[in-house]
Amino acid sequence: MTPSSRQVAVEVVWQGERGAQVDWLLDECLARAGHPKWAPRATALTYGTLRLIARLDYVLQPLLDRPLGDLEPLLRAILRVGCYELLFTAETTPAAAVHSLVDLAQDREWGGHVGIGRLTNAVLRRVAGAAEEMRRPPSGWPAFQMLTQWWSLPPWISERWLSRWGDQRALEQAAAAATEPSVCLRVNRTRATRDQVIERLVAAEIEAQPSDLHPAGVRLTGGAPARLPGWADGWFTVQDEASLAIADLVGAEPGLRVIDLCAAPGGKATQLAETGCELVAVDIDRGRLDRLRDTADRLGLRFETVCGDARTMPGRLEPADAVLLDAPCTGSGTLARRPDLRWRLGPERLATAVKIQRSILLAAVKLLRPGGRLIYSTCSLEAEENEDQMAWLAREHPEILPTAEPDTTTFPVAGRHDGFFSAVRRRRD
Ligand SMILES: C[S@@+](CC[C@H](N)C(=O)[O-])C[C@H]1O[C@@H](n2cnc3c(N)ncnc32)[C@H](O)[C@@H]1O
Repeated sequence: MTPSSRQVAVEVVWQGERGAQVDWLLDECLARAGHPKWAPRATALTYGTLRLIARLDYVLQPLLDRPLGDLEPLLRAILRVGCYELLFTAETTPAAAVHSLVDLAQDREWGGHVGIGRLTNAVLRRVAGAAEEMRRPPSGWPAFQMLTQWWSLPPWISERWLSRWGDQRALEQAAAAATEPSVCLRVNRTRATRDQVIERLVAAEIEAQPSDLHPAGVRLTGGAPARLPGWADGWFTVQDEASLAIADLVGAEPGLRVIDLCAAPGGKATQLAETGCELVAVDIDRGRLDRLRDTADRLGLRFETVCGDARTMPGRLEPADAVLLDAPCTGSGTLARRPDLRWRLGPERLATAVKIQRSILLAAVKLLRPGGRLIYSTCSLEAEENEDQMAWLAREHPEILPTAEPDTTTFPVAGRHDGFFSAVRRRRD
């Protein structure tokens, strides 16, 4: 079977249902296909389907004579990807899309057969015929149903967001979580200026504009092609636009000793290293730390890296002027960029994250010199991981003081960026 964007999307959605790590699998499929030109389309198709699975299922179920959950997993994946494509993308005619998905369904190489081809044809033709009506938002649904079925948010998160923020904000956030965010580049200011990066991209007919959130940000407005000019020269790295402000809170400068306790894959660490500070980047995950080192090499940045548990670092590392703890968290502010995450989270993951964050916070405190700054951040929107952790820290460690900088929650914006929390504290002199 010749690989295509549809085939990759179906494979990833199919295997994702069995628990495969979706971003890794997608990278692997695209690498196997030789990093084709259609890689961005495969990514959009895969992630789009995963973001809106509950809505796609709601559309598909009435067209089937048995529960969607009882279908062969391959067929279920083909119908979901096909339904997403017919409702939300317009790259080919509906007839051509259905035809190609039927071919996939019949391909024996991966377990397809004529039977599922026939069903694919019948169901997807009906989707194509009623697409306009299916795209229209329902009226009169209660907020909980809108969140869970229309915006495809798991019920437990829907309940939390509704009770915390009320209908309007919860619906806005669910819509943002279901919308493809834009790609942002962070310019490596040791190699190029933002104007140079934009000029080079625009010369290659890539739509790029300066971020209005951060002076090192470049927003790609027309999606990201597979290969970006300037990438191999280390002119930039990819980083969420709203996350760019977090490393700035460290106040890094040459001579300042900084420990980044949860550093991989290295977005903030490399941003810190650009300032010429004396950086130590720690992470427990060897594979992710390897990615950090590769990125640092590509960007031409040098700093110390340590593979290990942050909780064991006091005593192993000299205390620092500043410690950044970009903590492992539920990631509920990043559901748009990591669309399968919503289906892997649960209240137990939240409770575990809270525990780990507290134990790493204790290590962070021990690694601070008197007067040193602690920067705590997460990409979660949940109070337990954010404001509540800061309140807990204040109770446990009265020597850790607030600063003039306010605790900040940046909410995700649909089609634009993720959500983050950040807080700055100072150790008493
Ligand atoms: C939110 S990510 C960090 C992102 C990173 N700061 C960046 O800007 O690219 C959290 C990281 O914490 C690491 N981590 C989790 N538990 C850890 C521990 N006990 N000690 C050190 N690192 C840990 C994970 O491997 C993961 O790379």
